[in-house]
Amino acid sequence: MYLGLDLGTSGLKALIIDEHQNTVASANSALQVSRPHSGWSEQDPASWITAAEQALDALKVSHPTELAAVRGIGFSGQMHGATLLDSSDAVLRPCMLWNDTRSHKQASVLDGKEEFRALSGNIVFPGFTAPKVDWVRQREPELFARIAKILLPKDYLRFWLTGDHVSEMSDAAGTSWLDVAKREWSDTLLSACELNQSQMPRLVEGTEISGQLRSSLAARWGMDRVAIAGGAGDNAASAVGLGVVTPGSAFVSLGTSGVLFAANGSYLPNPESAVHTFCHALPDTWHQMGVFLSATDSLNWWANVCGSSAAELTAELGDNLQTPGEISFLPYLSGERTPHNDAAIRGAFIGLDHGHDRQAMTRAVLEGVAFALRDSLEALAEAGTSLDRVMAVGGGTRSPYWLDAVANALDWPLDLPQDGDFGAAFGAARLGLIAAEGTDPADICCAPEIDRSYVPDPGMKDAFEAGYQRYRALYPALAERAG
Ligand code: XUL
Repeated sequence: MYLGLDLGTSGLKALIIDEHQNTVASANSALQVSRPHSGWSEQDPASWITAAEQALDALKVSHPTELAAVRGIGFSGQMHGATLLDSSDAVLRPCMLWNDTRSHKQASVLDGKEEFRALSGNIVFPGFTAPKVDWVRQREPELFARIAKILLPKDYLRFWLTGDHVSEMSDAAGTSWLDVAKREWSDTLLSACELNQSQMPRLVEGTEISGQLRSSLAARWGMDRVAIAGGAGDNAASAVGLGVVTPGSAFVSLGTSGVLFAANGSYLPNPESAVHTFCHALPDTWHQMGVFLSATDSLNWWANVCGSSAAELTAELGDNLQTPGEISFLPYLSGERTPHNDAAIRGAFIGLDHGHDRQAMTRAVLEGVAFALRDSLEALAEAGTSLDRVMAVGGGTRSPYWLDAVANALDWPLDLPQDGDFGAAFGAARLGLIAAEGTDPADICCAPEIDRSYVPDPGMKDAFEAGYQRYRALYPALAERAG
């Protein structure tokens, strides 16, 4: 048996697969985000450990035999968060998460230094780790002086499980301190932030063994000797789960964030188009992705405003896709990365009239997110990536209406895997299997069976194109207002 632990933003998922890669058990535990000021987004790292304990203790009750048989554990994690530890490994402050945009000024200063785009292959986005730590350097200098280690969120969970400070390439690529072509920490980039390699975790590939489970925890869950794989950032882990590891294969993720991810056989940076170019979880592979910050987060926000649930709102729309209405929704609730790299921008409903009801507004929210994915498709095309096949994962895929809207906005067929559990936790479990058994990743990372394909309707092409052009045209006006 192999265990995947996916540390998401809204919850942690633990999933066990057997040697045939069948899912045999899973457990979830919820996490809260704190937003004390506009643009801030934080979590207490202790809550990740509590969530992991809850999920694993639940598996111990529901599936004790399967849990005890686990031989390898892999991680997936929300990326970019800065978990700061002092010299006794105590956490110095709440973790600033991937969608925390308070450090946009620091990001733009670092991005202005030529070496950052040249070595990291990416824009220094405010959500990335380096500008956050630079914010701490400027605003909380006493804390900055005490930083002995900087860990990404899932690597803090690894530290709890193994006692070792280790990261891996796919997540490290989102710090702005990695030389993404060479797959090693860059002294140049670290010293530009007044940091050094001693403050960084050791690096492994996602498929390598990073350590062993501590014996006290192994005893608690009835396990024997368990290898802990490097694992991956959540998007690369989802790609491993979906078999998106060879050029041309791609997926859309409708999670808290929205992502269009494509695997690349080589390092193809193109920061100008605001795509992310990161190491993949497999050695010698890279990937590109367009990321925007609020996908299901937009729908959940709207559900909250309506005092309803996301599922109720999407159910009200029925199953038949309609062409985009007069309302445009721009999903920039906490700023935007691809394609605008604009932390100050905020969202909007535009085009409301007396006749519009909540269904019309829900449709606009789903369409706005679909158009944001189209923006990422354009950015990837500009960066030289061409796609063969696009799958869909994430909580948003529970709405067939939304998948239809995305397929039409992209004008590209979307394949929905059978049973929907081929996401990040499954990919993490695959990495646990590969590391523990030394298996060839190519034998493990195959694509899932497809449940249903969502094919664009040629009769709607013009209306979706017009809706997208309307959406595109609104950003400049909003940007002007945001200053
Ligand atoms: C990727 C990113 C998000 C988070 C979400 O760059 O910031 O997809 O990883 O968990």
